[in-house]
Amino acid sequence: MTLAIDFGTCNTVVARWEHNSKQVETLNIGAPSRTFSQYLPGTNVPHLSMVIPSLIYYDQAQHPIIGAQVENTGLADNPNTFRWMKLDLLKGKNRARRINNNLVTPRQAAEDFIKNILTTDLAQKEQDLVITLPVEAFDSYVDWLQTTAIRHFRGRVRMLDEATACILGYGAKIREGQIYAIFDFGGGTLDISIVKTFNLDTEQARSCSVLGRSGEEIGGTLIDEWMLKELEQAQHLDEHDLEGLGVDLLHAIEHAKMQLSNGAEQAQISQYNYFTNKYINHTFTANRLRQLLNQEQEILGQRSLYRLVAMTLERALEQAQERYGVRRSEVSAVFMVGGSSLLLGIAELIGNLLPNCNIHYDNPFEAIARGACRYAGGDINLTLVHDYCLRAWDAERGEYNLVPIVPKGT
Ligand SMILES: Nc1ncnc2c1ncn2[C@@H]1O[C@H](COP(=O)(O)OP(=O)(O)OP(=O)(O)O)[C@@H](O)[C@H]1O
Ligand SMILES: [Mg+2]
Repeated sequence: MTLAIDFGTCNTVVARWEHNSKQVETLNIGAPSRTFSQYLPGTNVPHLSMVIPSLIYYDQAQHPIIGAQVENTGLADNPNTFRWMKLDLLKGKNRARRINNNLVTPRQAAEDFIKNILTTDLAQKEQDLVITLPVEAFDSYVDWLQTTAIRHFRGRVRMLDEATACILGYGAKIREGQIYAIFDFGGGTLDISIVKTFNLDTEQARSCSVLGRSGEEIGGTLIDEWMLKELEQAQHLDEHDLEGLGVDLLHAIEHAKMQLSNGAEQAQISQYNYFTNKYINHTFTANRLRQLLNQEQEILGQRSLYRLVAMTLERALEQAQERYGVRRSEVSAVFMVGGSSLLLGIAELIGNLLPNCNIHYDNPFEAIARGACRYAGGDINLTLVHDYCLRAWDAERGEYNLVPIVPKGT
């Protein structure tokens, strides 16, 4: 059987392909996993996803604890806990932290996190692994992820980009010869791909070509930080007032962002700081959040988040036009994935930019891992892999296999 891992900035998803039944299952690996309940646009029944929060804590014996266990034991805010490791790696930040007199880098923490997943009994049983990558990942990140997977998984390891994996997860919704946009907006990255499907109606493996793609290192964590800054300014708080509150407050802010994105007009944050005896009480409104997302930001090169998202989509569309003469009117649907695709105003923005498209929000958290799993399960043609994925590691033979590759986008 085969396994797929989507290592995310905030959440990691593990899926397994069942050869006999040809079904994908999202895995619950026990204490590190948690069920995430969300209302998707246009629905009134909570949608459940199985995720492993991308968190790792080192105890006094330097023994790591990962995922939901870190949150459930109140350790998310502990100085021995790492979060958002993927973002650090993508940005080339690898400053070590002293933990129990040992220096631990974000890269080491991320490796330990992935190792803990790959060495669970569930994962060890499998022979084949596919790991997903952001569209715009640097070679150093790709090499690190591949090396990590090879080191801790004894079977075959392959890589697939996250956006391409996504389209494969939407089996029933995709049709032969159609052009689709995949909009993946997570905790730390925005990846947009324009793809065309083929071979769907034949006995051969399903496939698709990537016609255009673009990405930015922006995501939900950045918005949480802007909202925190806003709260600090509005409540005239200084560093001392926030002491010891860090992660709890960020959590409350993230929750408020989700409430406002899910349709609430306002969301209140109340936190008592036992260190400073200060009570923090703030109300965010949907209008104010919309303004914040429309406001020019220095970190985005004096562009607003909405503008940068629009520009990223335009870039992907332009690439598809320049290379393949594909017009935007030919894009028939958009598949939305990643938690930040649910962010206030995003569906509207995409709807305005691609007015004739259906916008699908079926399984924003699991779609990538599930799609990658189908690819690994052999249901999908290998020619759609990214051109950096030249190698597949065969542990039994102790050598790399060459995957039949075609240049990106052909
Ligand atoms: N309903 C919602 N409205 C707005 N934002 C949301 C919602 N649900 C989740 N998010 C945000 O989505 C982000 C997490 O999404 P996801 O799990 O897809 O990211 P990830 O895969 O870990 O990140 P990446 O793919 O960028 O590495 C968080 O920033 C979270 O605050
Ligand atoms: Mg993701």
